Amino acid sequence: MKIGILGGAGRAGAFIYQEAQARGHEPVAIVRNEAKAKAKLGDEAHLLVKDTFDLTAADLVPFDAIVDALSVPWGSGKGYLHLDMATHIMHLLRDTQAIALFIIGSSSLEINGQVIYHTFDATTAQQPWFDGARYQYFEYIYLQMNPEVNWIAVSPAMAFPTGPKTGYLRGKDELLVDEAGNSQISTGNMAAAILDELEQPSAIHSRFTVRDK
Ligand SMILES: NC(=O)c1ccc[n+]([C@@H]2O[C@H](COP(=O)([O-])OP(=O)(O)OC[C@H]3O[C@@H](n4cnc5c(N)ncnc54)[C@H](OP(=O)(O)O)[C@@H]3O)[C@@H](O)[C@H]2O)c1
Repeated sequence: MKIGILGGAGRAGAFIYQEAQARGHEPVAIVRNEAKAKAKLGDEAHLLVKDTFDLTAADLVPFDAIVDALSVPWGSGKGYLHLDMATHIMHLLRDTQAIALFIIGSSSLEINGQVIYHTFDATTAQQPWFDGARYQYFEYIYLQMNPEVNWIAVSPAMAFPTGPKTGYLRGKDELLVDEAGNSQISTGNMAAAILDELEQPSAIHSRFTVRDK
């Protein structure tokens, strides 16, 4: 599979690139900073160097799948870029057969059937991550309005630290928590879950979640 990874030099994106390469796929990291991507993925890495907003439909034609591992710095006040980038990507992929897999923050998940984002109060809104979480929640709502693109969403557990592949468990919309009360997925396990889904898609037009096993 030819897989374009938006944010391919980011924390999650680099793991997805490496997992795809290890499985014999043809990953291309779609990045805006070539030097940073080469420092992370190696000088031989396959890159498409463009800002997300400069991508055209023609740029995405070669890909069987696109992964959105883009992010916006916490506290930047520009969380809306999550939504803006997603709408741009969706526009480029309309009426194509490509799969578009988006990482959507855990605030859109549920605890005991209640959407976590809906439980946030004014104190939570002061957190540096809140702005991004808010627009990723909107991003997930937006995805659900769009049957003309083969989109899939995956939400991490509550914590999403950088770490290796060790095994993961998969769920649907309810936040996954282990026996000790921890809710965590490493970037390595997220990458494995994303590649498993792309190889055998079962969640087109829906969302799944993952946690470390
Ligand atoms: N628990 C949770 O729910 C949780 C926790 C953390 C992260 N997340 C989500 O996980 C996903 C990946 O996060 P991450 O931590 O891996 O992100 P990250 O390390 O910050 O990487 C994001 C990448 O996006 C790139 N990017 C941003 N704007 C761009 C643009 N206009 N054009 C091209 N590239 C652009 C950045 O490029 P530059 O390096 O050039 O800036 C960076 O490489 C995000 O959806 C994030 O919200 C969820």
